[in-house]
Amino acid sequence: MLYCTITLYYSLVPGGELQEKFKKNHDIIFYRRQRDKAASQYFASFETLLLTDRGASLELCERDSQDRLCLQIRATQSGTVRVSLDELQPVKPRYHVSDVLLGELRYEPLRVNWKREDCVCLTWGLGQYKLLVSFSPFKLEISCDGEEIVTLNPENKLYFETLQDPTRSSSDSCQDDENRCGLWKETFRQFEDIKANGPSSVGMDLSLHGFKHTYGLPEHADTLVLKDTSVTEAYRLYNLDVFGYDINSRLGLYGSVPFLLAHKLERTAGVFWLNASETLVDVKYNPEPNEGEDEPPGKKSKISPQTDVRWISESGTIDCFILLGPTAAQVFSQYAQLTGYQALPPLFSLGYHQCRWNYEDEADVKAVDAGFDLHGIPYDVIWLDIEHTNGKRYFTWDSQLFPNPAELQHHLQKKNRKLVVISDPHIKIDPDWPLYCEAKEGGHFVKNREGVVYEGTCWPGESCYLDFSSSKTRSWYARQFSLSKYEGSTESLFVWNDMNEPSVFNGPEQTMPKDAVHHGGWEHRELHNLYGFYQHMATFEGLLTRSGGTERPFILSRSFFAGSQRLGAIWTGDNVATWEYLKISIPMLLSLSLTGIQFCGADVGGFVQDPDPELLVRWYQAGALQPFFRGHSAKMTKRREPWLFGDDVTSAIRSAVQDRYRLLPYWYTLFHQAHTSALPPIRPLWVEFPSDTSMFAVENQYMIGGALLVCPVTDPGVTEVKVLLPGSDELWYDTNMAAVHNGARTLDLPVTLNTVPVFQRGGTVVPRRAGCGSSTADLQQHPITLTVALDSKGNADGFLYLDDGHSFSYRDQMQFCLRRFTMRAGRLVNSCANDQGSFDSDDKVESVVILGLNSLKRKPKLKPGAPKTTVTFEFDAKRGPLSFVSPYNGGTRAQLSPNTHCSSANGSKPKRRL
Ligand code: NOJ
Repeated sequence: MLYCTITLYYSLVPGGELQEKFKKNHDIIFYRRQRDKAASQYFASFETLLLTDRGASLELCERDSQDRLCLQIRATQSGTVRVSLDELQPVKPRYHVSDVLLGELRYEPLRVNWKREDCVCLTWGLGQYKLLVSFSPFKLEISCDGEEIVTLNPENKLYFETLQDPTRSSSDSCQDDENRCGLWKETFRQFEDIKANGPSSVGMDLSLHGFKHTYGLPEHADTLVLKDTSVTEAYRLYNLDVFGYDINSRLGLYGSVPFLLAHKLERTAGVFWLNASETLVDVKYNPEPNEGEDEPPGKKSKISPQTDVRWISESGTIDCFILLGPTAAQVFSQYAQLTGYQALPPLFSLGYHQCRWNYEDEADVKAVDAGFDLHGIPYDVIWLDIEHTNGKRYFTWDSQLFPNPAELQHHLQKKNRKLVVISDPHIKIDPDWPLYCEAKEGGHFVKNREGVVYEGTCWPGESCYLDFSSSKTRSWYARQFSLSKYEGSTESLFVWNDMNEPSVFNGPEQTMPKDAVHHGGWEHRELHNLYGFYQHMATFEGLLTRSGGTERPFILSRSFFAGSQRLGAIWTGDNVATWEYLKISIPMLLSLSLTGIQFCGADVGGFVQDPDPELLVRWYQAGALQPFFRGHSAKMTKRREPWLFGDDVTSAIRSAVQDRYRLLPYWYTLFHQAHTSALPPIRPLWVEFPSDTSMFAVENQYMIGGALLVCPVTDPGVTEVKVLLPGSDELWYDTNMAAVHNGARTLDLPVTLNTVPVFQRGGTVVPRRAGCGSSTADLQQHPITLTVALDSKGNADGFLYLDDGHSFSYRDQMQFCLRRFTMRAGRLVNSCANDQGSFDSDDKVESVVILGLNSLKRKPKLKPGAPKTTVTFEFDAKRGPLSFVSPYNGGTRAQLSPNTHCSSANGSKPKRRL
């Protein structure tokens, strides 16, 4: 039986019959119920308005049902408004998401700005923000400096089903009224779902004024710009294990972040809907009125166009955050203040990861490891999938295949490489396995609605599922990672959490029944989308504790929720080895990046099926430009280590991976930025060019940081690609050709199999390593080189962040170094950008390449800055780059000390002092 399930799971063609196991919008009864319901009539009364030093509260009442809600409005100084709604007197408390928000925010007191009988205007801070609360019907308008930004409940779609006492309610009957179906019980295929407290869904609509581009809401295999769902399925946020998922679909995949961003000229805004139950989001773009069309008489002129967004969740409460920006950077930071910043990854995890389901045994692992050295391809981590265990019992090893796991890790560690093993949330039912018995006795498993331990099938066969929503269970699980408990593990072992939506092969939609019961008596429906987040959290705690709190954990998780960025990396699951999946990986990763999940990647090569060599090369080239870079392949696919396809393929892959390694100082600096200021390392073009409307929907190109524009080749057999170069004032330097192009044009770029289109923006400085070695640990032997790309005024700026790459000493002892490189009027200054940190490093800048001297109308008069040493330089007058080579090339230590100058006069001898 088990054998059949597993074979079925992986034998069907992706996108085929298997997808029918998932619900379509019309199968989702609470969604249909809300969509079909006529507008509600909530009203408020001024007498119930209570202002405290942390916001305002107000009672709402529904005219027909007389249901009463408590509304809380809170606002922060940085421009976030929180609107929360709960039942005033519920028969039992409703589920509130905990552990996602970082902590309580600092809310500002709200003041009454003015009031009328039918509305009150509240304000806070300096008074630029206003909140207009209309009482009948209830509405909330948020504006800034007179500009209306968001209206909540504009169409009266606020919806709140109050919990009921099952002993006092009649059972479900579909006979009288079709809409009553599924209130207490519903059936999908053979699965029955009993709702303990009856229907409990919530929903609200809002209008975003002046916006016609929205983004975010991962995870879907779909376009970067959200689609108008009046003509397609709504965006479903429900974590599901969808093998070989369809692309261009709004079906929920492995993780959910209920965060939507909207962008227009001069403002980016965000809406974060903190609810962990199944959620659907409808987006409707309303076109601009035709020019010259009259405004309806008596109506206040509104900015057009407008986007309407409707959120519908199965359960929980309404807890909605409006992030007012106004810039994208401010929205990222406002969101990070709520849910946390990206964890700073250990440096090794930004290198290349080699995975396969499965590397067969120790000899296989060692051979693959040696293969990388033999072929001169750097890599840092090799991964073991489920077959490394004894019968899919996580925390164990197959003693035939992996008799000496610790020795294997030492073998890898000698080369500074790591091992990652998989650890799924299901636990094989085996009364002879101490871990299972301990978990059962400790009450660590999810229960079914009868209160008995829930059993479902997954890789090991009959299994139980750990209840990670309980902090006790998380701590118990965390302890399993201690070196003393986890036999055969060493400090260089890291973890992969898979199947944690959770995947249950014989469950509804291949997941856990919604009426399963968690710690505290909460139904699974309440927290479904948090399950993977909680496993990730427990594993994080495990690795952190293992090192006594000193080392940065690395954990990859398939499932995620808002806040998962604090815990590690995410990947996009079971993609397919076709060009379409390579293409869609870009908008998928950009959507994740915009919503805080910034350490993200897609299986390089495609997980299912076999890529042809050209696709494999192009995927490596694209993957090398994405935050998390791992090759992975499914069990029955052909082996695809980079050297198995002939010299041309090996060489193209080698060069892509080596370029990635050389660029790691830049990536690491970007992750430091993500960690401290929430700017995503990879960004859609509109984030960098917010006033250029032609950038708003671009999804085949993106920016790595503010300096590099990339356009991975994602089509077969091409000899030319079109690259959109933004900004009429911008200069773009082709990093392959050193040619310079003006912005605001589309470039026809000739490409060969070896071309990876990457352009450096004028006005930036990009740090690289001069060489790459065989793993990230070797990078330190290679000095830094700076590429200074001048803008049209001859200026450039950039940063370099350094620390030990693995511990928390950057945070606990302030052992880090952040340098700023500034080129102004021919003078390159290396200065300290954060004097709180100090880091004793052997790193040195060996060479500087200056791009763009030729394009300057006024050549800078370069003056030597107190020269001590003459440096050699090359200047190709035709192509333009001016390169300085350090006099310390021989290896003399030179620190990145304050006020290092590198100055030169064109034609004269450039001088450099370190
Ligand atoms: C599903 C994951 O998505 C895939 O990456 C993994 O190889 C298999 N599970 C087996 O563990």
